[in-house]
Amino acid sequence: MRIIRAKDYDDMSRKAAIVLGAQVAAKPDSVLGLATGSSPVGMYKLLIEWCKNGDLDFSNVKSVNLDEYFGLTADNDQSYAYFMYHNLFKGINIDVKNTYLPDGTNPDVANECARYDAVIDSMGGVDIQVLGIGGNGHIGFNEPSDVFKLGTHCVTLDKKTIEANSRFFNSIDEVPTKAYTMGVGSIMKAKKILMVVNGEAKAQAMLDSFFGDITPRVQASILQMHPDCVIVADDAALKLIDEKFPGAVK
Ligand code: F6R
Repeated sequence: MRIIRAKDYDDMSRKAAIVLGAQVAAKPDSVLGLATGSSPVGMYKLLIEWCKNGDLDFSNVKSVNLDEYFGLTADNDQSYAYFMYHNLFKGINIDVKNTYLPDGTNPDVANECARYDAVIDSMGGVDIQVLGIGGNGHIGFNEPSDVFKLGTHCVTLDKKTIEANSRFFNSIDEVPTKAYTMGVGSIMKAKKILMVVNGEAKAQAMLDSFFGDITPRVQASILQMHPDCVIVADDAALKLIDEKFPGAVK
């Protein structure tokens, strides 16, 4: 596990885009595991810029996303399918037929989870998995729990997650209470992990995840076991780690 320090959101985005861009440049048919949320948006903007100026080519890239709200159609502007199209896919030369997310409109949970696990398996391995982190340490929508789940499952979102995500909705009542998410097992199978983290609201989760015990109460803590995990975090997100373990992150 390597934590790369960034000054602020822009610096984090640039450093993370370099890691992801290098992956695509070195292996043009890479399989990317992608995340939504505020954290990767700046990185996605840079990838769009580098694709438009000819530095990166996504035409042979495939992608699988971490999660999708249960019950939302892909054309709903709050869905993660909509987010991915508008924040990345439409700006790069990826073939949208090669981009996959869980289908939030499938009410048959067992069927959808099996379908999405088969999609992930058919990719032959995720080369790099982008992650953000929840204030409660979640990755994907793997919320604090007594267990780590292996495969895709449908979760009831944590109260804190619903509160945090309500900033994207007109009111908290509109936030879906359930979501499909890739399991921690699938995340851990990715060859490389690239986590992007910014802001003081994530400082406790960073401390607990990477300087505490490995526990499903803090799902991101399992990343300590990943053989190639790169975390790009800004000074604000590193605040508590810097206080408790001065010098631990250069
Ligand atoms: C998003 C996802 C979530 C977010 C996390 C952080 O696909 O799986 O785990 O990465 O909630 O969200 P932001 O970046 O909005 O702070």
